[in-house]
Amino acid sequence: MIRPRRLRKTEWVRELVAESQLGVKQLVQPFFLAQDPRAEEPIAGFEGVSRWGIERLLGQVERALTLGIHQVLLFGSAPEHAKDAEAASGLTRESTIVQAISRLKETFKEHVVLMSDVCLCPYTNHGHCGILESGEVENDRSLGLLAKMAVLHAQAGSDFVAPSDMMDGRIGAIRQALDEHQLTNTGVLAYTAKYASSYYGPFRNALDSSPKGMDRATYQMDYRNKTEALRELSLDLAEGADLVMVKPALAYLDIIQDLKAISTVPVVAYSVSGEYQMVKLMAKTGLVDAAKMTIENLMAIRRAGADVIVTYSAMEAAQGKWL
Ligand code: PBG
Ligand code: ZN
Repeated sequence: MIRPRRLRKTEWVRELVAESQLGVKQLVQPFFLAQDPRAEEPIAGFEGVSRWGIERLLGQVERALTLGIHQVLLFGSAPEHAKDAEAASGLTRESTIVQAISRLKETFKEHVVLMSDVCLCPYTNHGHCGILESGEVENDRSLGLLAKMAVLHAQAGSDFVAPSDMMDGRIGAIRQALDEHQLTNTGVLAYTAKYASSYYGPFRNALDSSPKGMDRATYQMDYRNKTEALRELSLDLAEGADLVMVKPALAYLDIIQDLKAISTVPVVAYSVSGEYQMVKLMAKTGLVDAAKMTIENLMAIRRAGADVIVTYSAMEAAQGKWL
């Protein structure tokens, strides 16, 4: 009799035949920046996640490296009073994120792979990822600002700029600007298929970046669509993306699988704040074990085809030996 259970007999047999692997090298830890250099600001509704001042962030990244996590994704922030219509506070060398990139790169050099979020929404008073014109998110003038921000990050030492705005043509515009500034070694991590999603709730709280007036449906993708993700993929590859991303991850495993099947560059999946907090809340009630459920989720994302996963659980998983 043919018995599949023979391959499930003992732990070591199961290890031998396991089809998916997950290790610290595949995980990216996101970090949020605070204004005050010495601050640690826990974020309500986003358990175990804080905004860090630059002095404290250095220690956090050091901890990540010790745990074997060498990849981090940085998100900047701005105080409410500094926000304006054109994201000016994000477009200077003095912005917290540019300062943080410089400090981290000086300190950890090639031991850290620095990825940095390029978007206007943390710095705009309307909270949109592009600038507004007659009440609409204007594409082409936003590109110039995004490219400028990407150049500032790259000059400070970012290894991969990661535009999360979903404007058309941004990968090409950023690639061209980087090349014109001789920043040829800085890569672009494209948010290729970023869907308009309820799963971003805790994050928007973290950055205080909820859009005002209208939602993000005119630029982020509609979750009913799948073929459109392939269209975004071919555009981003043609425009020079070094890495392509699907976001969110867990409810979008089919999209990850589709992109992985044809992408000529590695596929990254972003397991977003809502996915993370969902597990935390369930674990709090005692219904599930957070470690086990987190690894099940991350493994599903790997099985679907993600080469790399951005997850708020990266350090916790490494520290708790969940992997
Ligand atoms: C904004 C941005 C968002 C996230 C990353 N960048 C929120 C949004 O698009 O509304 C979400 C990340 C998360 O939820 O973990 N450019
Ligand atoms: Zn944005």
